Amino acid sequence: MARSIENPVDGPQGQALWDRADRVLPGGGIYLSRSADFAGRGVLPGFIAEAEGCRVTDADGRRYIDFLGANGPNILGYRHPEVEAAVRRQAEVLTSASLFPPSLVEVIERILAKFAGFSWGVVSKNGSEVVSLGARVARQHTGRRGLITFDRAYHGSEPELATSPQPGPLTELTSDVARVPWNDAQALVDLAKTRGDSFAAIVLNPLDQNPRLETRPASSDFVQAIEAVRAQHGILVVFDDVRHGFRLHSEGSHRLLGLEPDLTTLGKALGNGHAISALLGREELRRAARKIFYTSTYMFEAPPMAAAMAVLDIYDRDAVFDHITRMGERLRAGIAAAADATGHRISQTGPVTMPTLLFDGDTDGARQRIFAREAAGRGAIFHPGLNWNLSAAHMASDIDEAVQIAAAAFAATPLD
Ligand SMILES: Cc1ncc(COP(=O)(O)O)c(C=O)c1O
Repeated sequence: MARSIENPVDGPQGQALWDRADRVLPGGGIYLSRSADFAGRGVLPGFIAEAEGCRVTDADGRRYIDFLGANGPNILGYRHPEVEAAVRRQAEVLTSASLFPPSLVEVIERILAKFAGFSWGVVSKNGSEVVSLGARVARQHTGRRGLITFDRAYHGSEPELATSPQPGPLTELTSDVARVPWNDAQALVDLAKTRGDSFAAIVLNPLDQNPRLETRPASSDFVQAIEAVRAQHGILVVFDDVRHGFRLHSEGSHRLLGLEPDLTTLGKALGNGHAISALLGREELRRAARKIFYTSTYMFEAPPMAAAMAVLDIYDRDAVFDHITRMGERLRAGIAAAADATGHRISQTGPVTMPTLLFDGDTDGARQRIFAREAAGRGAIFHPGLNWNLSAAHMASDIDEAVQIAAAAFAATPLD
């Protein structure tokens, strides 16, 4: 039921949790992108207590249509019954033991069968770990330290690849990482001319997609420059498909670019809310990978492996990529019409499955935050900074309800 925007977004339980959180969490950059503070406090509910399908419930029992999907993982919707059943079945017989679970082999076989061109894989828990592991394998193979990545590109929270240099003693770690403007083929070629033989890998995302900015696909001359630099200098390509995997192309987003990476990484959607990520590599890199020591206590948990196998089955069986594309198109058309009807000048950028809404001339993001807050107050979570994510659980009726909420939120947002 629609709620009055006079109510603060957080109810009494949410506010009490904030008071406690402010005492026991450090705040600031720690957990930043998962904190409602990232959207501006009071814009989105601070705490999600329950989630199912495309709906989440906050600490005060208020329900929302959700377009975040836990920042990406829930491509099938929260708590997909078949994924949860597979996880429960596995947990009834084994969570983790001292030696490999059979599902470690099965899940890697299943992933390799879907992502052609790779012959070995490693599963881990989060995206940051597998991107960094990919860089380590590339360094081991080439015997070089340098990495090339792109301005503002996000590759997780490992300090070396952090988007902006971290203040303090670890700053030096980033000195082996050169950042080049996205789509600047010439800058990449020039960098390679001067220092090409010092780089182990180019680490790249399929798109330049950043909070509150227009999303930019890779241009064809940029991809050609990557291929040329790679061929001339023996630099490997480590593809970071942690966020976009399964959402841009059903068999790896690198296919959109026509690029065959040496190593690729998956995370987020692979487990639909269960902690599993993967690094996949070409045969030539297996030797280098074998020389690296890599392990952790919970990397061998079998239930997330069961979740990933269920995701792979359901994703193909239910033609999830087609569904999220259709729902994304419906949302985009509805939002455009709602903005138009209320006199807002907006653009919608990024793939329809992972859209970002921008208000024209909204340089400080103030209108975006007001819109997000007005929508949250009425029962829909449209993050004002991060891209949104469509899921298999968003049905046409959910999209239409969300568009109605968006229309009311637009009407309550100043025009400039
Ligand atoms: C493109 C990309 N790479 C890597 C990561 C890091 O993944 P994780 O947060 O699971 O460590 C993210 C997370 O948002 C991401 O978007």
